[in-house]
Amino acid sequence: MDAPYQAAPDVHVLPTNEALPGMGVLPINAYVLLAEEPVLIDTGMAANDDEFIDALSSIIDLQALRWVWLTHDDADHTGSIERVFQLAPRARLVTHAFAALRMSSWWPVPFDRVHAIRAGDRLAVGDRTLRAVPPPLYDNPMSTGLLDEATGALFSVDSFGALLPEATQDAADVPHDALVGGMRAWASSDSPWAHILDRGRFDAVLDGVRRLQPTQIFSSHLPAASGTSLDTFLQVLASVPDAEPTPAPSHEEFAMLLAAMSATPPQPVTAS
Ligand SMILES: [Fe+2]
Ligand SMILES: [Fe+2]
Repeated sequence: MDAPYQAAPDVHVLPTNEALPGMGVLPINAYVLLAEEPVLIDTGMAANDDEFIDALSSIIDLQALRWVWLTHDDADHTGSIERVFQLAPRARLVTHAFAALRMSSWWPVPFDRVHAIRAGDRLAVGDRTLRAVPPPLYDNPMSTGLLDEATGALFSVDSFGALLPEATQDAADVPHDALVGGMRAWASSDSPWAHILDRGRFDAVLDGVRRLQPTQIFSSHLPAASGTSLDTFLQVLASVPDAEPTPAPSHEEFAMLLAAMSATPPQPVTAS
């Protein structure tokens, strides 16, 4: 993972910037929200990663961690979850009920520490209330974002992610065209169903996000962004249903990608 950074007085980012040769860099973020009852939002990408635990411990005493808000149970969000729950005995897991159930296939989820949530629910975390909100686009039906009602910070799950030319800590530093193209490409591949959306209904969903009036936007796959970017971001998402769908890599493109990443190439398939 990469070095943590502070994106607001009460928000720290735990980023991994994954280089995808030929495509760009994909940020993969977990967050620490320093509420009176501290909240970790997602648990990184690598499985039970010492670097992640060290970075998290540099921001907060794990004994004091009270909540882990898991936005969804995709592997780029659940990396160190088991270690976190071993090291943070007071923490409770806030997530979609089915995400907790599904994770129990690979991790003995402590169900007595799970607080199941769904869109519209509120969670009191001491000095503030967090409201569960659905992200406008997603790759997993368990996806549950949150709005910090005290500060207006929106944690938008995979929505507003982007493939970027290089790693950065502020979305405003990304050239406009690169940001728009990278966000459209990400949305198109992360939510391929967007191409069959009813435009009117999707516009209503985007209006719902606009009405949240977020002051800051913390996507799982974008550097920290100001709420002033929201109109641009919503315009990008509104264009996704009409964008050219991003095709999956062919087997040959996959082999080239692995070669560029210096990973073990796949074995050729022989016809039987
Ligand atoms: Fe996801
Ligand atoms: Fe993700």
